[in-house]
Order: sequence, then structure tokens, then C-alpha cells
Amino acid sequence: MKILILGSGGREYSMGLSISNEKEHELFFMPGNGATSDLGTNINIENYNELCSWAITKKIDLTIVGPEAPLVDGIVDIFKAKDLVIFGPSKAAAKLEGSKVYMKNMLKKFNIPTAAFLETSKAEEAYSFIDNMNTPIVVKADGLCAGKGVIIATSKDEAKEAVKDMLSGSSFGDAGKAVIVEEFLDGYELSVFAICDGENYKVLPAAQDHKRLLDGDKGPNTGGMGAYAPTPLVDEELYKKIEDRVIKPTLEGMKKEGAAFEGVLFIGVMVVKGEPIILEYNVRFGDPECEILLPLIKSKVSDLFYKAATKDLANLNIVMKNDYAVGIVMASENYPYSSSQAAEIIVDEIIDEDLKNNSHICYAGVKKEDGKLFASGGRVLVCVGFGENINEARNRAYALCGQVHFLGKKLRTDIAYQALK
Ligand code: AMP
Ligand code: GLY
Repeated sequence: MKILILGSGGREYSMGLSISNEKEHELFFMPGNGATSDLGTNINIENYNELCSWAITKKIDLTIVGPEAPLVDGIVDIFKAKDLVIFGPSKAAAKLEGSKVYMKNMLKKFNIPTAAFLETSKAEEAYSFIDNMNTPIVVKADGLCAGKGVIIATSKDEAKEAVKDMLSGSSFGDAGKAVIVEEFLDGYELSVFAICDGENYKVLPAAQDHKRLLDGDKGPNTGGMGAYAPTPLVDEELYKKIEDRVIKPTLEGMKKEGAAFEGVLFIGVMVVKGEPIILEYNVRFGDPECEILLPLIKSKVSDLFYKAATKDLANLNIVMKNDYAVGIVMASENYPYSSSQAAEIIVDEIIDEDLKNNSHICYAGVKKEDGKLFASGGRVLVCVGFGENINEARNRAYALCGQVHFLGKKLRTDIAYQALK
């Protein structure tokens, strides 16, 4: 197949890597990064209508959308109107991520467990709700804020301040013109991914991400500093609860709303006293979760995407490896605060056969100049290790990190700690 992947991160690199390992497809990335050009061809057509015309001319068989923004903008509808095969939710279904107000109201409507909340665009209403809450208090901007729209306030005054800054437009512009104020949930977090074709779904092994910048879950929130899967923190009973109480009613509900869900339903779960409570939905793969989950799939990843995009998941038997995967993000010096100076990336030759065969790098914030790879900011790459248990996978991932050098490199040293407690 000719396959087009939209996006430029480690997530999209990992999709490309898995598919390129099948050795039977031609890959294109829009826009890709300095390393995806080793897996296929980077193109640069930002306008969705123009990209669609390009895909028709080029006879692209499958388009996979990595990030949320094009989904929320409706790229899937544009491609489908021209009978192209594209993996991802429609604009209407992508509202599950595009608007937290929509998402919370859907959870409520479908009776899916979620934190008690108030949705409002009136400051006074939010203040009186806050006055009756216990701290900490969670305040969320309605729209897309690149992962920064959630404030966990430790006092009522701080919560009110966050509401005020959001509603006035000063913290997140239009994305903050409506807010969610909700109760704080105390538990452990999971990332659960269901690949959906509108009707059927396949659940991947549950992963854990590490959103905070520093060891011990300290410091500011990031896009994710590392992940591992499968996590031993989920047993069959919890998977069943998530399927019966969350995935099935969501897919049923979205069908009734006239927005059948196709693509990746990314369920942010907080497990509180053994019960799954839904923090949020995203409508795409997590990054770095994608980088550790796709290589655990033994069957063809391209089949999974293609069958989901053509309402054919019922005919797919997805086979997982028995392995574990751990991914460690290496970020640039000033992440997540500001951009960093470009720094050359040197990867030592890996002599150890065991490490060579059981680890790899997924490149994200990189650019190529004169054949050399440079860290260009943000999350630069993910070192992924595999093993028969989490410890083995983790040791290999960290061993690989030791072989990668660039000025200002930054990483957490405790990825997967909750599984090793
Ligand atoms: P979200 O973008 O909604 O997933 O929120 C980002 C992060 O904030 C989550 O991954 C959680 O760690 C945290 N968070 C969000 N909502 C809550 C909540 N109600 N209680 C506790 N933590 C939360
Ligand atoms: N790693 C979490 C996310 O992609 O939103």
C-alpha cells in the first residue's frame, strides 16, 4: 500500500517504523521530521484540501492521522468525501477531545463514571461551585490547549484565579471561554486505547504514561516523559469494567449521536479504589504510549489501521507479543518551558547484540542537516526497550539512553516505577 502518515512526532515515527518493518509499503509523512525521511518521503502540504488532492493523484491507499488538531479540524470528512481511506474520527466525533464540555456532557449522558463537575462560562457560577468543594480542585479549559489546559488548584482562591484567567481569555484565548470545574480524583492513572471502526473495537494492553517532568511525578505537566505496557496494575476484571462501563456505552452513544466513533479512542482512566473513573477522552494515540504499544503488536499494524478505516475490524484477529515495552523520553534542555538551541545527536554504535535486538529509538523533535541529526527542541526522541518482564525492558531502554548524546538532554530516571514497587 501507499500510506500517508500525518504528524511529526515520535508517535508518527513509530507508526512509520512498524509499517516499514512489514517491508511491503511505500510511506509518506506530512510533515514528518528529520528522521522519518529515512523511512519514507516527507512532504509539505499543509492545506487539507490540497493534501487531499495530492493523495488522490498519488493514489494513496491509506492515510493515518497522528495528532488531534487535523481531526478536530475535520480532515477525515474532507478525505472521506473524496472516497479516500483514512484512519481517524470525523470532525463530529473528534469533539470528544476538541471540547471538554462536550466530552463531560457525553460521559454524563451515557452514564459513564467521571469526576463530578460543573460546566460554565460564568465566573460567578464557578465561584459558588468552588465554595462548596473540597480541595484540591481541578479547573480545565474547554478547548485544545496542547496539554496545558488543566490546573490542579490546592486552594479555593487558586481555583477561582484559574477560572478567572481562563474565562477572560488571558490564559488560553478562546479555548478557555468555557471551563470545567471538577472534583480531584485520587488514584492511579492508566492510558487505555481502543481501536474502533464505528461498530467494533480492539483494546490494546493498558499503558502508564508519566506526565510530569521530574522523577517522583514532580515538576510541570508535559506531553509525557515515558511510558510502559502492559501494566500489571490492570487485571481482567478491570479490563472488563472498562469495556462494559466505558467503551461499549461510548461507541453505542456516539452512534446514537450520529457521530459513530472511528479511530483511536484514548481513554484517560483514574483507578480509584479499584473502579475506573474517566478523566478524559482523546481521539488519537498517546505519545509516547504509541511508541511502546505498536511494537508489542505481532500482527501487521497496517492491517489494524486499514481494517479500522474500512469498518472491517470484526475480521481482524489482533495478536500481541508476550513482551513488555518501556519507553524513555529524552527531551531538550528547556522543555517544556521554551525552545532550546539545536544540538547534534550522537548515537554510539551499539555493539551489544542483546541490546541491539531488543531496543530501538523513535525520533521526534529532530531535524537533519548535511546528513547529521540535530535535536530541534521539545521531546527529541524515545528510547524503547523490550523484554520478558518490565525490569528487563526498562534496563534495556535505559542502556540505550546511555548510548545517545546531545547537549542539554533531559530524561526521567524512574519510568515504570509504579509497576516495580
Ligand atoms: P487531562 O488533560 O484532562 O487528562 O488532564 C491532565 C492531567 O491532569 C491528567 O493526566 C491527570 O493527571 C490530571 N487530572 C485531570 N483531571 C483530574 C482529576 N479530576 N483529578 C485528578 N487529576 C486530574
Ligand atoms: N501521553 C499523553 C498524550 O499523548 O496525551
